[in-house]
Amino acid sequence: MTASESEHLPFMQDMQAALAHSPKSISPKYFYDQAGSALFDQICELPEYYPTRTELSILKSHATDMARYMGDNADIVEFGAGSLQKIRYLLNAAAKPARYVPMDISGAHLQAASTELQAEFPHVHIQPVVGDYTQPWLLPAPLPGQGRRVAFFPGSTIGNFSPAQAHAFFRNCAEHLRGGALLIGVDLIKSPAVLHDAYNDAQGITAAFNLNLLERANRELGSDFDLTQFAHSAFYNAPWQRIEMHLLSLQSQTVHLGGKVYHFEQGETLHTEYSHKFTLAGVQQAAQSAGLQSGAFWTDPQQYFGLLWLNIPP
Ligand code: AVJ
Repeated sequence: MTASESEHLPFMQDMQAALAHSPKSISPKYFYDQAGSALFDQICELPEYYPTRTELSILKSHATDMARYMGDNADIVEFGAGSLQKIRYLLNAAAKPARYVPMDISGAHLQAASTELQAEFPHVHIQPVVGDYTQPWLLPAPLPGQGRRVAFFPGSTIGNFSPAQAHAFFRNCAEHLRGGALLIGVDLIKSPAVLHDAYNDAQGITAAFNLNLLERANRELGSDFDLTQFAHSAFYNAPWQRIEMHLLSLQSQTVHLGGKVYHFEQGETLHTEYSHKFTLAGVQQAAQSAGLQSGAFWTDPQQYFGLLWLNIPP
């Protein structure tokens, strides 16, 4: 195996498994190569995509309050930290954050953003970790004399998980962050039209983000997905309280990947993402069933988005 083949092995294995199954489904974590991370940053700026701007406004209004819960010398870990935009409000408000550990699978993107952040916050020890938090956690050891360990999981990224995966994530927090806390951002249930538009923007950026998964497979795995024969499909599944994103095959077609041939029927989809929407009571219940204790909740005037403080028993 070449170095590049072994680097791409998890993606190859997951893509082959996805194409061999019915229905076909792959983890949304594969959206985030360099191109995908840049497209996601563009999504966050879209007029239809309210979550980022709403969460930022809540952080801006309540960062002082949140920093009080963190306490002095907090050791902050962020999962799926991306472009490190949201943490700036908390770092500005925190009295003396001891350390900030942003974790993300998009390595180059994370390194560049961390270097920039370190220049802005010279007094904070910034320690980026390129890693996949859906795999067993490898957190850096606590610092001597540090305060509370606080996990930050914004953006409603928890919505990508199935209820079972969300439970596993909360259990990981309970085990690895004893005596600490979790500050989690969740997208709240609202009008289906607003939800639909957020994932079907007029400029087609979300479509490009979704289709980039197939482009990435062609680039990294040498597959031959015909990008003109797949369409972006995103809709709100109300009974399941989630947006579903799929790549829809526009005709009966075959795809070659890793020496094998896979078939798509016309209208068959490759499911690429769930984005679950929540009620406050629903998140509280899910967290409590994993042993976390529910604390303060901050939201915006329209109640589009929420940030929930969860204490983790020692
Ligand atoms: C990063 C998972 C929170 O679900 O809204 C945005 C990803 N997908 N547009 C979301 C996403 C399509 C986003 N999360």
